[in-house]
Amino acid sequence: MLSFVAFSFILVCWGAGVVRGHASIWHPSMYGFNVTDQTFPYDNRPVAPLTNYTFDQWWFHGHLDYPPNPGDFFELPAGHIATTEIGCNKGATTWFNSSEGGDIRQGDNVCPNSPTAEYHTTGFDDLKGCALAIAYESDVTKIQPEDFTVFSVNQTCVWTRFTDFAVPARMPPCPEGGCHCAWFWIHSPDSGGEQNYMTGFKCNVTGSTSTVPLAKPQVPRRCGADPDFNKPDAAPGNCTYGAKQPFYWFQAERNNMFEGTYAPPFYTDLYNFKGGAQDDIFVDSYAEIPPPSPNSTVVPALQQPQATGSSGSSSAVPAPTQPADQIPFGTPPGRCSTW
Ligand SMILES: *[C@@H]1O[C@H](CO)[C@@H](O)[C@H](O)[C@H]1NC(C)=O
Ligand SMILES: *[C@@H]1O[C@H](CO)[C@@H](O)[C@H](O)[C@H]1NC(C)=O
Ligand SMILES: *[C@@H]1O[C@H](CO)[C@@H](O)[C@H](O)[C@H]1NC(C)=O
Ligand SMILES: *[C@@H]1O[C@H](CO)[C@@H](O)[C@H](O)[C@H]1NC(C)=O
Ligand SMILES: *[C@@H]1O[C@H](CO)[C@@H](O)[C@H](O)[C@H]1NC(C)=O
Ligand SMILES: *[C@@H]1O[C@H](CO)[C@@H](O)[C@H](O)[C@H]1NC(C)=O
Ligand SMILES: *[C@@H]1O[C@H](CO)[C@@H](O)[C@H](O)[C@H]1NC(C)=O
Repeated sequence: MLSFVAFSFILVCWGAGVVRGHASIWHPSMYGFNVTDQTFPYDNRPVAPLTNYTFDQWWFHGHLDYPPNPGDFFELPAGHIATTEIGCNKGATTWFNSSEGGDIRQGDNVCPNSPTAEYHTTGFDDLKGCALAIAYESDVTKIQPEDFTVFSVNQTCVWTRFTDFAVPARMPPCPEGGCHCAWFWIHSPDSGGEQNYMTGFKCNVTGSTSTVPLAKPQVPRRCGADPDFNKPDAAPGNCTYGAKQPFYWFQAERNNMFEGTYAPPFYTDLYNFKGGAQDDIFVDSYAEIPPPSPNSTVVPALQQPQATGSSGSSSAVPAPTQPADQIPFGTPPGRCSTW
């Protein structure tokens, strides 16, 4: 009897047909929260990869007409951690109750019942990082790709459902109506074809202690050690320093990166995306940034090395309380893991 019950549960998990690969962050503040594989003429779920798409198809994942409900924002507590949920299906996250297949949660598992190849890695050592970027603009139709600045990087994406992003302490407040953010991910070529991922969402910075704006973001450059391509040493003079745009790669239009199929750009040291809060993205972070080049040995000196939030309107701002978005680890596992 018990084994029959167990067997039926396994059938439910697989029968739901929701264990397919790829990944996205999930939150009610996102564009496309309820988009299913039936919504578009092609599979345009938030987890579906973006390859060789027109601008309208890849920008915000083509989900601008599927905005979040009014008032839904993802909170970014300045100087603290924002915890996102990444899943290869909404059913693997806190918001399973509006997913196609129901609750398939399995603790911290990104993709229950699937091998790691389903989320494009051969293992922990093959992870390539993902990023959150922000545009200080509440009107989504005004945002251009060149307006997004990467403000936090996690180099071990996607590996855990709950993935932490450190928010720079000096993030200024958003305009009235909030900001827009997006999650970006490019995976290793060792486990799947060349693909870009973008999930846009409404976000808002809380607990700001600085009003210094972000610098104009520049295109990132390949400058880290690159042993796979015969470059054992980093070329720090070749890096882009300060505010950097996300990678727009492998689309039919409006790319900013032109790397080949097997040399994708990554949110790692390879493109000077250190893990954690990007604390050098503000207009006063550097007095001067010398032009990067492969032969350059000059690197700029941070003039705001510490994220003290000393400029602008400091003090009198209470420390942020635990935001609603921070769901602690140890969420009870879903029914699939019971067996
Ligand atoms: C991209 O799409 C165009 C037409 O939509 C096609 O001609 C081209 O071969 C595709 N390129 C790749 C790399 O798939
Ligand atoms: C998504 O679907 C759920 C369940 O039907 C609904 O409560 C929610 O308002 C929808 N959200 C959006 C942004 O459409
Ligand atoms: C679905 O789950 C979310 C997260 O727990 C909750 O906020 C929401 O009220 C639930 N919706 C329904 C229709 O039960
Ligand atoms: C990346 O996310 C993991 C899982 O949440 C977390 O343990 C780690 O501290 C994060 N890394 C950074 C640099 O924030
Ligand atoms: C964003 O957060 C700030 C600080 O908590 C708050 O004053 C503001 O009303 C929020 N904006 C939105 C659109 O929720
Ligand atoms: C310098 O960066 C450019 C642009 O990303 C890249 O094409 C080149 O390979 C890099 N050179 C070195 C030596 O890292
Ligand atoms: C960089 O150095 C190499 C070899 O030392 C040289 O061939 C190349 O022209 C230099 N490039 C630039 C942009 O100065």
